[in-house]
Amino acid sequence: TDLVAFAHGLPKAELHLHLEGTLEPELKFALAARNGIELAEKTVEEVRATYNFHDLTSFLQVYYPAMGVLQTAEDFRDLAYAYLKKAASQGTRHAEMFFDPQAHTSRGVPFAHVIGGYRQAIIEARAEFGIQGELILCILRDFSAEFAMATLMEALPYKDWILGLGLDSDERGNPPAKFAAVFARAKAEGFLLTMHCDIDQEGSIENIRQVIEDIQVDRIDHGTNIVENDELVEAAKARGLGFTTCPISNSFVTDQMKSDEIVALLRRGLKVTINSDDPAYFGGYVADNYVALAEKADLGIEELAQLARNSFEASWLTPFRRDAYL
Ligand code: HPA
Ligand code: ZN
Repeated sequence: TDLVAFAHGLPKAELHLHLEGTLEPELKFALAARNGIELAEKTVEEVRATYNFHDLTSFLQVYYPAMGVLQTAEDFRDLAYAYLKKAASQGTRHAEMFFDPQAHTSRGVPFAHVIGGYRQAIIEARAEFGIQGELILCILRDFSAEFAMATLMEALPYKDWILGLGLDSDERGNPPAKFAAVFARAKAEGFLLTMHCDIDQEGSIENIRQVIEDIQVDRIDHGTNIVENDELVEAAKARGLGFTTCPISNSFVTDQMKSDEIVALLRRGLKVTINSDDPAYFGGYVADNYVALAEKADLGIEELAQLARNSFEASWLTPFRRDAYL
């Protein structure tokens, strides 16, 4: 339909995308074969049959083990290259991509191989598809604050390749405050800051308050539970904070897309953006997410265009480079 073509053609920035969440079953098989790894599932259908998530925890239980096929710098390069190619085909011009180094260093893969492979893909994709890629180092919140700090220290020599610091994985029992010192250090080193405030978590409002008031993030990932607290909504609005929402992901980790919440926040003037989160697992890249939300909430092209504009305004492009898209 017209709306589908419009959503694909709109120039967009993607701001909430986990590179490890772009591992399609076909690439997983190819990497397993290359690295001599025997997988339990033998067909793409068998792999997809394990994607019966009903919450964040059940998703993460499938997500982390799958990363075992990622071993060499070339593997990480191939993963990011495939995503950037796909993203460019859906109208993405700029992607600020999370990567989870601890999910790899904790199983013996050197940090340099991870970031070196990703960096190589960014350079190639820029030349071949005209898409600009950037990296956000994401800390796994279910590991310790000490491991987080050690990972930040390991990343410092690669500072020029990393835009900012994020926080993901299982939120339960792992509030933002646990990582206050790590994020303060990252800020002092010049990194921009964002944190996941996942959907409908216990203590969600308190965690959102911590990321805004205490950590003083530059963006919030998900964060749609803020709709329950007018004071925080006004604070986020006053600061022009971006929110990276992920409609199709929401429908997997909760029982709905949270379209009412997303659209309410957009119409209250928050800098709401639409993103794909872990597209290989949730079955939709960024334009698919625009379409899914538009169909669910009956949005027209003006509001889709607003969401795309927001994606550049909430991006961490420098003002000069950002204005080229607006
Ligand atoms: N939330 C928490 N952890 C994650 C996510 C997410 O959306 N995606 C990948 N790891
Ligand atoms: Zn995420």
